[in-house]
Amino acid sequence: MVVVDPFCGSGTVPLAAASLGHRGVGLEVNPFLAFVSRTKLVQTKPYLFARGTDRVIRKMSAGVPSPLESYSTFSSGGGADKWLFNRSVLRSFEAGWHASEDEPPNVRSLLRLSLLGAAMDACNAVRDGKCLRYRKDWEGLKFGGKDVVEALRNRVAVIAEDLKNTASADGSRIVRGDCRQRLSQDFEPFDVCVTSPPYLNSFDYSDVYRPELFLGKFVDSNEALRVVRLRTLRSHVQVEWPKPTLDDFGTLYRSRIEKLRSVSKELWSQRIPLMVQAYFEDMTQVLLSLRRLAKPDASLWLVVSTSAYAGVEIPVDLILAEIGMRSGWFLREVGVLRYLRTSGQHWNRWEALAGEKPQLRESVVILDAKPRGRGKRASGK
Ligand SMILES: C[S@@+](CC[C@H](N)C(=O)[O-])C[C@H]1O[C@@H](n2cnc3c(N)ncnc32)[C@H](O)[C@@H]1O
Repeated sequence: MVVVDPFCGSGTVPLAAASLGHRGVGLEVNPFLAFVSRTKLVQTKPYLFARGTDRVIRKMSAGVPSPLESYSTFSSGGGADKWLFNRSVLRSFEAGWHASEDEPPNVRSLLRLSLLGAAMDACNAVRDGKCLRYRKDWEGLKFGGKDVVEALRNRVAVIAEDLKNTASADGSRIVRGDCRQRLSQDFEPFDVCVTSPPYLNSFDYSDVYRPELFLGKFVDSNEALRVVRLRTLRSHVQVEWPKPTLDDFGTLYRSRIEKLRSVSKELWSQRIPLMVQAYFEDMTQVLLSLRRLAKPDASLWLVVSTSAYAGVEIPVDLILAEIGMRSGWFLREVGVLRYLRTSGQHWNRWEALAGEKPQLRESVVILDAKPRGRGKRASGK
């Protein structure tokens, strides 16, 4: 079976598909995440990995100057009063990165993935949901090159164990790019699509991976990072993406967008109604492309969450189900996976006014390329 995930993130779906003996195909726009996904599918002989690790670690203690030493908030040389990495952390990382260049491609990828993780282990900030938060007493922790080496050893040990148990992922692949564009071209037909598109929560996923994007040389300037952000689905308001032109995504959408536009003065960004419109325009395009690529018995599983802005609930799951049906899919089910706590940012000011909070949920929307036979289940045959 071909299992596709057009928003594959760090690659859980393609990896799970491959480990079950299917062909997993992932698409991901963030170059760092595409690298993570691809590397998870990589195999190599454990002794080659162990040998490469020793060679890299030997070179790390000498350190190599990093291009990030005087860049922005990356290090103390950038002029900010807080910085992500102490200089010796960056130098140790950079030395490891250069040393890995001489290793065979699969060993190199595995080592680089470990190095990126190790640098983040010695980072003065940690990822906390939507942002990077400085560690308590980050200055007192005094992370240095030795911490990167130690973290690398730990990470490599886990990967070495995984390599012993990994099944072949031959035929599985990760494509780096914007799925809106890639799926509209010649892409491979699939049996199952399991995916979790960006949630409509105004959260720019590329931003929290800024350290890895720069460290791993996937981008080298804020302008290059902006290009990545512009290729992401329009689920956030931080960059000026092109304005949407379509505005007809079914009755549920219509009632919600009218309500949202009527309270636009109360929104924390005036671009939120436009973002909601753009999001459903993008998802229409993706659902249409997926329908075109679906094999006759294919099914599509979408995991999404609902959103709320200024007290207006956007039932993303139900709207996507409606868009799916308008795109030629047959709706099998919308199932609630769990209820979520409402984010304070979106809600607190409204609580007092409206009295009741919309209860946000995470759901799975299941769509089929053709209606599922009714009699089968009833007769038990
Ligand atoms: C909800 S996350 C998916 C998480 C994933 N299931 C995992 O296991 O990591 C959505 C992903 O979609 C990616 N994305 C956003 N816009 C995209 C686009 N236009 N094409 C492909 N991927 C995109 C984001 O970078 C993010 O990794």
